[in-house]
Amino acid sequence: MLRDFNKRIENGFFSLKLQNNSPKTAIILGSGLSGVKDSFIGEEIPFSKINDFPAPTVKGHSGVLKISDKVAICAGRIHYYEGHSIDDVVFPIFLLSRIGIKNLIITNAAGGINSSYKSGELVLISDHINLTGCNPLIGINDDSLGPRFPDMSECYTKELIDKALKIKPDIKQGVYAGLKGPSYETPAEVKMLKTLGADLVGMSTVNEVIAASYLGMKVIGISCVTNLAAGISDKKLDHGEVVEAGKKAEKELTSLILKLIDILSE
Ligand code: HPA
Repeated sequence: MLRDFNKRIENGFFSLKLQNNSPKTAIILGSGLSGVKDSFIGEEIPFSKINDFPAPTVKGHSGVLKISDKVAICAGRIHYYEGHSIDDVVFPIFLLSRIGIKNLIITNAAGGINSSYKSGELVLISDHINLTGCNPLIGINDDSLGPRFPDMSECYTKELIDKALKIKPDIKQGVYAGLKGPSYETPAEVKMLKTLGADLVGMSTVNEVIAASYLGMKVIGISCVTNLAAGISDKKLDHGEVVEAGKKAEKELTSLILKLIDILSE
């Protein structure tokens, strides 16, 4: 499987036609958080123009890879719940690694399980629980890319968390539980996740972070708490409201990311 996957990545890389001096930091932007992209000047390459990039399942939401001198930005994400394979989900991560990315800022919209969280708040991901039932590293391993049994004890890199804490000392940290989706959780499931030690719940991130960590990237995860998870508040969950809450948090997220990029480019 991985040999074919490598071919896909090489095809994708070839179609980017990059000059020298690729950026060292990348950002993956979660649902409703794509505004960060407009803070940078650079070439926007539609996913559809990148060879072998997974085709989006939602019309009109094709996504772009924007490359500026300091950062590569993936605006638009491949979700497992859309029916993509797990290879598709992590294709952008392998491609970013191929262009030389060393630091990954990964963002998402998440439900808040920890009752101290408020809707619209940003939370740093301290660790995750992969409940997707998938692992992107299954298959014959290519030892030139990463180890067969990669250590995951610090897949959210402490050094980057410390840098973010210097910028925003009051930001909370929490454990992110990644589920398949697309249905939101039942209140009983949220209770279970709380018992398991999760503070946040969402439908992305964990497989991408496993791949990034395997490839040797430093990773920082930032969740935007767009709602309290089912049963934590009496309110029913509505995707429109989740997107709206993400938009409201965007200014703060952009400010944090811009400062992080400056520090990482020093
Ligand atoms: N659950 C799962 N994914 C989510 C949620 C949630 O409550 N909010 C935003 N993404």
